Amino acid sequence: MPIKSSDITPEVLFRQRRRMLGIGLASLSLPLAGSWFGDTEELNNNIDNVTPGAIVQPELKATELKIINSYNNYYEFGFSKEAPSGAEKTLITSPWSVEVGGIGADKPGIYDIAELHGEYGIENHIRRFRCVEAWSMVVPWNGIALAKVIKAAQPNSKAKYVRFETLHDEQQMPNANWAGGPYIEGLTIAEAIHPLAMLATGIYDKPLEQQTGAPVRLVVPWKYGFKYAKSIVRIDLVERMPRNTWWRQNPNEYGFYANVNPQFDHPRWSQATERVVGGFGRQKTLLFNGYADEVAYLYPDLGDRRYFY
Ligand code: MTE
Repeated sequence: MPIKSSDITPEVLFRQRRRMLGIGLASLSLPLAGSWFGDTEELNNNIDNVTPGAIVQPELKATELKIINSYNNYYEFGFSKEAPSGAEKTLITSPWSVEVGGIGADKPGIYDIAELHGEYGIENHIRRFRCVEAWSMVVPWNGIALAKVIKAAQPNSKAKYVRFETLHDEQQMPNANWAGGPYIEGLTIAEAIHPLAMLATGIYDKPLEQQTGAPVRLVVPWKYGFKYAKSIVRIDLVERMPRNTWWRQNPNEYGFYANVNPQFDHPRWSQATERVVGGFGRQKTLLFNGYADEVAYLYPDLGDRRYFY
């Protein structure tokens, strides 16, 4: 049975409000809602709701590094879970730069990864990771807050979405053309500046491996794993919702938002539980992968199927 918004919203909003009262207002110095977000239709884009640094992570037992590094989805290096870690190390990750631009960026730029580290500082966060295929891990990420990169690009009123493009190179990737072009992902601007969203460059204080998306990938813990674009080369602030790769591949099964919800099943399998990779058996899947307190306010109607595939 699909979840009804009337069943869930009050509790989530209650917890959200209580948390915000406890910690005070947002401190992220970004432009105010009116000037920045324009008239973005359905989303609650109120910047005042952003609460950087306020996320208290419950005790999580991190998955072993050797498991995180050997059970992967990175189709540019092959379709099986073992193919990406078994592939020859052909990806050249240094030097590597990420170009930030798009019609919504008043200050585009090209950033070297090392430059990003130096400028914004590395954050360490242990987060749940839930693949749409109903398996999960817990990953200790190192990286930088995505909001800092977005803010540096000086978003204007046209910055309604953020589009991520990853490396597409036949010389460096044996299966580069599986999707007919680069792997694309996207977020709304409100999602992209959320403090849970990060650009990861390491796991367990070690640089990302080729198979985990070296040298820089997206991390959005309340969403299914296919949102975590690997080996990012471009970030654009755009006006229109980007068509992400999996949506394009199979629009009946995958969409733009892909927020984790145990009550909305995938057309071919249940999302109620997940297999813990490297652990024992299955566990219950949590709404927004356990981050409902932090992110539910971004989605005005939790009964809306669109947000959960
Ligand atoms: N990024 C690129 N460029 N290509 C991919 O095939 N797979 C996605 C995502 N990012 C993918 C990608 C999917 S489906 C998942 S579940 C996660 O990466 C897997 O991340 P992991 O291998 O580090 O667990």
